[in-house]
Amino acid sequence: MSGAKAAHLRLGVNIDHVATIRNARGGDHPDPVRAAEAAAGAGADGITAHLREDRRHIRDNDIERLMGEIRLPLNLEMAATEEMLAIALRHKPHAVCLVPERREEVTTEGGLEAAGQHNHLAPYVARLRDAGIRVSLFINADRRQLEAAVSLGAPVVELHTGAYAHAHDSGDAARYDAELARLVAGAREGAGLGLEVHAGHGLTFDNVAPVAGLAEVRELNIGHFLVGEAIFGGLDSTIRRMRALMDKARADALGSRSA
Ligand code: PXP
Repeated sequence: MSGAKAAHLRLGVNIDHVATIRNARGGDHPDPVRAAEAAAGAGADGITAHLREDRRHIRDNDIERLMGEIRLPLNLEMAATEEMLAIALRHKPHAVCLVPERREEVTTEGGLEAAGQHNHLAPYVARLRDAGIRVSLFINADRRQLEAAVSLGAPVVELHTGAYAHAHDSGDAARYDAELARLVAGAREGAGLGLEVHAGHGLTFDNVAPVAGLAEVRELNIGHFLVGEAIFGGLDSTIRRMRALMDKARADALGSRSA
């Protein structure tokens, strides 16, 4: 991995919750595709959208428009179901991130049980890969799950940072240290196993730096905080500030490694 490549940490902006607000009134505003355009202008490297089975935020037509109108690579988050597979194969986004999905959950609460669902997931990973789509598995930073990703042939894992984010908010230093240590170990193990490591969920201005500073992590996917904070600061400046915090954490961490 070249120094320059390792240094650049990609930011995928998740626009799901622009669609959540739009859907609250049933019309067209605010338009998640317009948010994706704004994200591109503010320095995002990719757009992430989760097409849920219940279409509670992103809808099929949003995916169609994101593919047609946005020049950034699309990372489509989806459950491993036949319906979603058919949609992915029709649109062929740059990447698909397979996520666990339960209808009653508020958000994606835990990582994919990749180890326990090997036989279910294997044909999905294979068919997506055969279509030239980069497949990622959204997993907890756990050795068993990382090894399962390797045996499934997924080139990428996204480490679930939700427990880390909750620990940060809890003010419990020991819990926070343990969750961060879990991410540090998971990122190292994943990279050591030859996986490209991404991370995301619950990241904010306040908690992004330690994750952004992990040299093995190549991409962060961030949504809810950016959309919420945009109410106060505007989407452009919110994304620019997140980008700057990520870049600074990266520069500080890599600088201290080579020092
Ligand atoms: N990555 C994955 C795989 C996700 O499912 C989500 C939430 O949809 C995110 C990242 C972004 O999480 P948040 O909206 O909390 O930033």
